Amino acid sequence: MTTSRHPITAEEAAYWSEIRKQFYLMDDVTYLQGGTVGPSARPVIERIIGLMREFEADPLHRRHGDLLRPLVEASREKLARFVGTTPERIALVLNTTMGMNIPGQGLIWERGSDVLLSDQEYPAVRALWTWLAERDGLNLNYVSLPVPPSSPQDIVDAYAAGITENTSVVIFSHVYFTTGLVAPITELTRLAHDHGAVAMVDGAHAVGMVPLDLSEVGCDFYASSSHKWLLAPKGVGFLYMDAKYQNKIRPVIIGHNMRETDAASRYDVNGTRDLIPHAGLGDAIDYQLDIGWESRIRPYCLGLARYLKAQALERIRGARLTIPMDESMSGFISSFSIEGIDLSKVCQYLWSDYKIEVTAIGANDQSFFRVSTHFYDSYDDIDRFISAINEIIAKYPDVHLD
Ligand SMILES: Cc1ncc(COP(=O)(O)O)c(C=O)c1O
Repeated sequence: MTTSRHPITAEEAAYWSEIRKQFYLMDDVTYLQGGTVGPSARPVIERIIGLMREFEADPLHRRHGDLLRPLVEASREKLARFVGTTPERIALVLNTTMGMNIPGQGLIWERGSDVLLSDQEYPAVRALWTWLAERDGLNLNYVSLPVPPSSPQDIVDAYAAGITENTSVVIFSHVYFTTGLVAPITELTRLAHDHGAVAMVDGAHAVGMVPLDLSEVGCDFYASSSHKWLLAPKGVGFLYMDAKYQNKIRPVIIGHNMRETDAASRYDVNGTRDLIPHAGLGDAIDYQLDIGWESRIRPYCLGLARYLKAQALERIRGARLTIPMDESMSGFISSFSIEGIDLSKVCQYLWSDYKIEVTAIGANDQSFFRVSTHFYDSYDDIDRFISAINEIIAKYPDVHLD
């Protein structure tokens, strides 16, 4: 049996509604911003609070063998399994920004060579390469991504048009922070390698949203922030690096990591620090695996995104999708524009009048809502969101651009 308006059974809706209670999210808030920072589930937070108490009872011993270090290594193993690689290839860092900086700053790029990236890479990543280009005399070449592309091949073609034999590194996102577009990273990696270039993937949004098998992708580097879709403690991310870069990268921060080792853990954030967030990463992964990431979470979230896109087109006048319907190019982020409407102002009213958290983003001379729907969100939340937009457009003259 399906509920009257929604393509899931009443039992299923009740199941997810119980799951929503396992978060500290306020009851009256509709959180469609998990792409920026994801809320951790209560069991994960309770676990890390418990670890804090245990640790503080004997900080000297419980930092290493007696408590935290084995948990950090267990997290590394669980993460490696989740993304299709081995623990030796994973550096545990604070976030994607740090993960991208390790090879960006740590490798020596040939002076005068080209760096290829798209006009939709994340601003912090663009800043890194702008800075490196100035410092090391590199040429930054941007390709423009269509919004939306009509097939994964459009994205490969856009990069292929910009790549040359002088390209030393190609940077692309697995899931674009702008529209939510899922890029064909295996094909983009192949394109980079065919031209002798390094393939560096910004996977900030992908892990916990899109299935990932790094052993198949074959990229050189893949960085991600686990505090987004994996709902891990904040300040937890990782960098995957191909074995051939082990010890070729100069660590940006030198300390106990000065000696060469066989494992990417050499590039972990180092020096004395709080190990608890990384210890809690394994719990965050287990939390989603216990629900069933592949069997329950992903199908449910894809269903939410499908419904959201259909409802936006059906119920909002002037709405246009900026993300394909096709699920080979989209995941749990949906995006759409509304002709003649100032979406940033609508976002302000959505928060002030409805307690709906969502963001408006611009790319390719277009402005659109970026809506992140995770498994703590519901079909009712989407109905509320769509109705609220229509009410705001009808009520507030200042959201109209003309
Ligand atoms: C595509 C992309 N890359 C990198 C980042 C940076 O992530 P962090 O701030 O966790 O380093 C973000 C953050 O939103 C992002 O969306």
